[in-house]
Amino acid sequence: MRAGLPGPDAPLRLGVIGNGNRGVIAERAARADGNAAVVAVADPLQRARDRARKAYGPGAHVGQSVAEVIDAGVDAAFVTSLDHQHAEQAIELMRAGVAVFVDKPMATTLADADRMLATAHETGSRLYVGHNMRHMPVIRLLHDLVAGGRIGQVKAIWCRYFVGDGGDRFFKDWHAERANVNSLLLQKGAHDIDVIHWIAGGYTRRVSAMGALTLYGDVTSRQDRTGEMVTEWLDRDANWPPLAQQGLHPVIDVEDLSMVTMALDNGVHASYSECHYTPDYWRNYTIIGTEGRIENFGLGEDGVVRLWNRRTEYNAEGDEQFPIPHAEGGHHGADPALLAEFLEFVRTGAPTRTSPVAAREAVATGAVATTSMRTGSGALDVPELDPVLRAYFDSGQTGR
Ligand SMILES: NC(=O)c1ccc[n+]([C@@H]2O[C@H](COP(=O)([O-])OP(=O)(O)OC[C@H]3O[C@@H](n4cnc5c(N)ncnc54)[C@H](O)[C@@H]3O)[C@@H](O)[C@H]2O)c1
Repeated sequence: MRAGLPGPDAPLRLGVIGNGNRGVIAERAARADGNAAVVAVADPLQRARDRARKAYGPGAHVGQSVAEVIDAGVDAAFVTSLDHQHAEQAIELMRAGVAVFVDKPMATTLADADRMLATAHETGSRLYVGHNMRHMPVIRLLHDLVAGGRIGQVKAIWCRYFVGDGGDRFFKDWHAERANVNSLLLQKGAHDIDVIHWIAGGYTRRVSAMGALTLYGDVTSRQDRTGEMVTEWLDRDANWPPLAQQGLHPVIDVEDLSMVTMALDNGVHASYSECHYTPDYWRNYTIIGTEGRIENFGLGEDGVVRLWNRRTEYNAEGDEQFPIPHAEGGHHGADPALLAEFLEFVRTGAPTRTSPVAAREAVATGAVATTSMRTGSGALDVPELDPVLRAYFDSGQTGR
């Protein structure tokens, strides 16, 4: 363990910035840990503050600003606000010496992501980005099959994301606006681009994309839902088919269909497609290597990863099958593992499966892909990270 860290058994005082739908992870982290407590919450919304008072009791300071959370003397804070707010808030916390958990996407622009890494380096405050998919059993299974050499050397990864709840989750509130998310290639794609990079063992250096608002722009029923949460309007039975949706966000200027192609620095090529109006809600990865391919069917314990490594025509079952393991908790068991990893990292600086550099590379790829998508779809270079920052994070945020 590094000097200056709280230590393996230290009690932790936690803060929350943005107590909406995802803000609940702070409460879950504290409960599972047993030696950590949420002591301060900031949210400009009255209903969110009311929820915080109910959840954390009179002992917690509930206010509106990051400064109030800092003043409450927190060791670490969860930033679960709107995507475009992550950078400023995380930087303010790190400057005050607070360890930061910032949810994905780390930021909505490459410049913001780089400023966050630079601030972590400059201040020595710990930075962690909540890419929980790295802890999902299905993703670990895919990763481990590749790492174990079961398909030879990886050459291609194709990810298709069927965002079945897209209309409800991303077109009825702030997610539908470029000003808040840049594009959904950041808000949603950051997850999968990070997974692609992790499994491939490389980062995208050239990217192109095509996409458009192809369906939800035609829905004329609009409603300002400020103050409500997604759980209040998400309804898989009622809100179907997508063109029958009622009460979409007044401003919709993000794409609901997009396709990205990527060339990675280690010779792997990848593609990522995202559609926000499919009837089913899951993502499918196909990974092709020099000696076979693997593909997941489903995401949870009712699903399977199939492997093909013999020449054949159509073989639906694959040559080998690997059931997806069960894990308890949110996002197919990813969240408890993610939150425990973050608290351990805050206390001892222990190595993590998630990576701020990889989170930056997901933002970089998503942001440059967005530029490509909105400027004629040509292939563009993805700028590299400052090698000094890369070395700092590669060494586990030590050695300033
Ligand atoms: N890793 C995951 O699987 C996962 C899942 C869901 C959400 N998220 C991320 O969590 C974040 C929040 O998403 P959500 O679904 O909870 O949205 P939400 O709209 O339910 O909650 C956002 C909250 O932030 C508050 N807020 C607005 N301005 C603020 C400010 N200046 N300071 C503090 N709080 C402010 C809002 O009032 C709201 O309560 C997003 O970045 C999203 O990408 C991650």
